[in-house]
Amino acid sequence: MRATRLVRNGAVLSAAAALALAGCTSAGDPSPTPTPTPAAAPDVALRDLPRAGLAVGVAVAGGGHHAAAGYPDPFGEDDAYRDVIAEQFSSVTHENQLKWEFLRPTREEFRFEGADAVIDFAEENGQQVRGHTLLWHSQNPRWLTSGTFTDEEMRALLQEHIATVVGRYKGRIVHWDVANEIFDDSGVLRTEENPFLARFGTTIVADALRWAHEADPDAVLYLNDFNVESVGPKSDAYLALATELLAAGAPLHGFGVQGHLSTQYPFPGDLETNLRRFTDLGLEVAITELDVRVPVDGAGRAEPDDVEKQVEYYGRAVDACVAVERCTSLTLWGVTDRYSWVPGFFAGEGSAMVLDEDLAVKPAFTAVADALRGPDA
Ligand code: G3I
Repeated sequence: MRATRLVRNGAVLSAAAALALAGCTSAGDPSPTPTPTPAAAPDVALRDLPRAGLAVGVAVAGGGHHAAAGYPDPFGEDDAYRDVIAEQFSSVTHENQLKWEFLRPTREEFRFEGADAVIDFAEENGQQVRGHTLLWHSQNPRWLTSGTFTDEEMRALLQEHIATVVGRYKGRIVHWDVANEIFDDSGVLRTEENPFLARFGTTIVADALRWAHEADPDAVLYLNDFNVESVGPKSDAYLALATELLAAGAPLHGFGVQGHLSTQYPFPGDLETNLRRFTDLGLEVAITELDVRVPVDGAGRAEPDDVEKQVEYYGRAVDACVAVERCTSLTLWGVTDRYSWVPGFFAGEGSAMVLDEDLAVKPAFTAVADALRGPDA
C-alpha cells in the first residue's frame, strides 16, 4: 500500500508562476523585489501524471556521502522524506546501497539489509526498482582493489557477485545498470581505474551482461554513464561498443544517460537525437540520474537567472525522454536539497534538486510536472 498522501489539493502552478513564487523574475522582468517563498508541499504526484507510461524514478538516499554527514540515515530515519519517495515516484534506485562497497564488506560476506529495505519499500508502494550497479570503477571495497588475485580469481569474483546479487533479486529488479561509467570523457576505456577492465577490457562487459542474463533472464540490462547526453566521443564510444555487443549476441537491452547537468554549461540540445541513435540499434534508453546544479552563494542561494535556466534544463530533459518512444524511465538523482550529493562534489554549486531542504516545491519540480503533463494539459 502506498504511504500517506502528501499532495495537497489546489491549483497547479505553471513553471513561470512557480518562479515568481520562489522570488525569481522571468527573463526581461526588471522587478528587483523578490517575493517571499512560501513553503509548499507538492500539489501533484509526478508518478500519476499522464506521461506515466514512463517510469518516474528517484535515487533513494543512503550510504555514500550520507555516511559521513551529520544527519541520521535518510531512508531509515526520515519519515517525511520516505513519504515523498512513496508519493511522487513509480521507480526507485539505490543511491549507494547496491554498490560493491556497501554489499561486500569482506570477500566472504554479503550484506543485503540496506538493499533489501529499499526493495521491500518499493514493493509496498507499487514501485519498480532500477539496480545500480554491478561493474564500476568507484566504490569498490579495499579488499577487492588492493587484494592480490589472479585473472581467473578476478573473473570468478565478478561472476559470483553478479550471480548472487542479480539472482537474489530475480523478478524484483526490472533494470540493471550492469556496467557503469566504463569510458572516460574522450571515449577511452577506463582500464586504469576499473580493476576488471584493466585485466579483461570490454570482454568482461560482455561476460557481465551474460552472467546477469543467466541470473535473471527477464531483467533489462543497461550500460550507463554521465556526459553522454550529446553526440560526441564518449557517446560515440558507447554506440560502437553497443553495436559490437549486439552483433556478438550479448544480452544488452538499454543505454542509460545519467543527466548530471549544470547551468554553467549549455543544455545538451541534441539529447533527443542522441537517444535516438541508441533506440535505432534496437535498445531502450533511459535518463537515469537527472539533476541540474546551479552556482550558489555561501548560504546555498542561487541567482534568479540560474533558477530560470534550471527550470528550462529540467523541462527540456524530460521533454527529450518523453519524445523518444523507447525512453522508458526517467530517474532523478535525489529529490531534495536536504540530501543532495552535489555540494560535496562541486564547490560553489548546489540547489540541484526539485524540492528544497524543507521538502517544499521549487520551480524545477513544477517544470518536471509540466513536462510530464505535456503541452495539451
Ligand atoms: O570511501 C571514502 C572513505 O574512505 C572516506 O573516509 C569518506 C570521507 O567522507 O569518503 C568515502 O567516499 C565516499 C563515497 O561515496 C563512498 O562511500 C565519498 O566521500 C562520497 O562522496 C561518495 O558519494 C557517492 C558517490 O556516488 C561516489 O562516487 C554519492 O553518495 C552518490 O550519490 C554518487 O552517485 C553516483 C552514481 O553512483 C553514478 N553516477 C554519478 C553519481 C554522482 O556522483
